[in-house]
Amino acid sequence: MHEVFSDIRVYETLRDAMLFDKWNLKMHPMLNIAARAARSAGNLIARNLGQQGSFEVEEKNKDDLVTTIDKQCEKVIIDTLLKSYRDHSVLAEESGVVGNPDSEYQWVIDPIDGTTNFVKGIAHCAVSIALRHNGKTEVGVVFDPMLNEMFTAARGEGAFLNGHRIRVSPRDSLDGAIIGTAFPTRYRDRMPAYLELFSRLIANCADVRRMGSASLDLCYVACGRFDGYLEQGLKPWDFAAGDLILREAGGIVSDFMGETGYVKSGNLVSGNPKMLRALLKICDVQNLPAILK
Ligand code: IPD
Ligand code: CA
Ligand code: CA
Repeated sequence: MHEVFSDIRVYETLRDAMLFDKWNLKMHPMLNIAARAARSAGNLIARNLGQQGSFEVEEKNKDDLVTTIDKQCEKVIIDTLLKSYRDHSVLAEESGVVGNPDSEYQWVIDPIDGTTNFVKGIAHCAVSIALRHNGKTEVGVVFDPMLNEMFTAARGEGAFLNGHRIRVSPRDSLDGAIIGTAFPTRYRDRMPAYLELFSRLIANCADVRRMGSASLDLCYVACGRFDGYLEQGLKPWDFAAGDLILREAGGIVSDFMGETGYVKSGNLVSGNPKMLRALLKICDVQNLPAILK
């Protein structure tokens, strides 16, 4: 019995690897490089998670941490990308803008999305890498090294998890829905307004999750694990890759007004088209304080 299962596993692993290459990576050299960079950084994360003595932690801002592993991951990613694309530009969370500032191509990198989880030894964080061409996201990779889950997308070509096509959940109302979200702990002035919104949300859906990695939250909506997700005040590196992956999986991302302002504001609401409508209704857009829009 045991051998049959292990044969099936070997078969599945080989099949996944073939599909992954055939449909997603070989055809996209840039996606391929991004996935390779994400894997190298992911190995560093996996080796150090739970090894609190092996890295140093610094508080960049109140409740906003960075570790020596974040910096090492970012270096590995930037080196990998710029080795293949030396005239591209990079926007990375810890290093800012590097490379050629005049390039039409910009890589947007979050070396560890979920640093607080990483610092606490909670196995939920990811590497997020996107490539923008003249401001439009062309490829996105979000890699969870602990579950070995690689979410990928190229614009117009669908979204994949380890080479398997993914789609958003078909749920058409908040009834029974699981919604990802986050408390605005880095923007305490938003808390009262957010808590009002949150109480309306929890009164209308089945439950909420605050997992601690925005890029994975978006990917969890993309593959139907979450029915929707909302958060405010994200940075481009938190959502650039997950945004593309979610849209390529049939989801919609908007700001709290139902518009595209999220790209600048970092205020995101997402789900399938019906779920997005239901979430925007709950947000009570007309009466929302300006700061949350
Ligand atoms: C954070 C995570 C978290 C989200 C925060 C982000 P970091 O990114 O994505 O889930 O709620 O807004 O800043 O700091 O771990 O890279
Ligand atoms: Ca982040
Ligand atoms: Ca980070």
